[in-house]
Amino acid sequence: MKRVAILISGGGSNMLALVQDMTGDHPARPVLVASNDPAAGGLAKARALGIPTAAVDHRAYPDRQAFETALAAQIDAAQPDILCLAGFMRILTPGFIRRYQGRMLNIHPSLLPKYPGLHTHARALAAGDDQAGCTVHEVTEDLDAGPILGQARVRVLPGDTQDTLAARVLTHEHRLYPAVLRRFATGDRTPLTLD
Ligand code: GRF
Repeated sequence: MKRVAILISGGGSNMLALVQDMTGDHPARPVLVASNDPAAGGLAKARALGIPTAAVDHRAYPDRQAFETALAAQIDAAQPDILCLAGFMRILTPGFIRRYQGRMLNIHPSLLPKYPGLHTHARALAAGDDQAGCTVHEVTEDLDAGPILGQARVRVLPGDTQDTLAARVLTHEHRLYPAVLRRFATGDRTPLTLD
């Protein structure tokens, strides 16, 4: 059984989707939900589900290195095989990434390689794209640019705002990330496309 640690910064809706899928014959189970924000709503959701949690407040550390050392200590104590970044909003240093590279996934709300970084939906709308979506990828030192493990495409509808588009993409994230994790946990890195 693979052990999965999930890193969040906010509400943790993707974390919840992953946790709710890790049952029965799923080859993985959640062993930790950690956040850089002690007030992250997802921590309460994880606690309510009986999942061990950790809050490492990045504002309590003098620099990024000290924060990541404290975070890695909490992660390593849970002995995860896989790390899932799920709405985790801190940029990680190359040192931290090297520690977990090859077993660390992230979900990004665009069809990478389009729109790495922030405000992805606003950028897709501004470009007049007729498609948007989300991508699960392996985390490497290049931000939002690691090997793609899965994508879900979403039609942009007339009158879409960044909020309506974000909400529609989010429902696809909740399908894509669990499907990719199931596959990844068996050692299969074949990219998955959901339409
Ligand atoms: C989602 O849009 C996800 O794509 C991005 O963070 C947002 C919030 O995620 N990474 P969650 O609801 O906290 O899982």
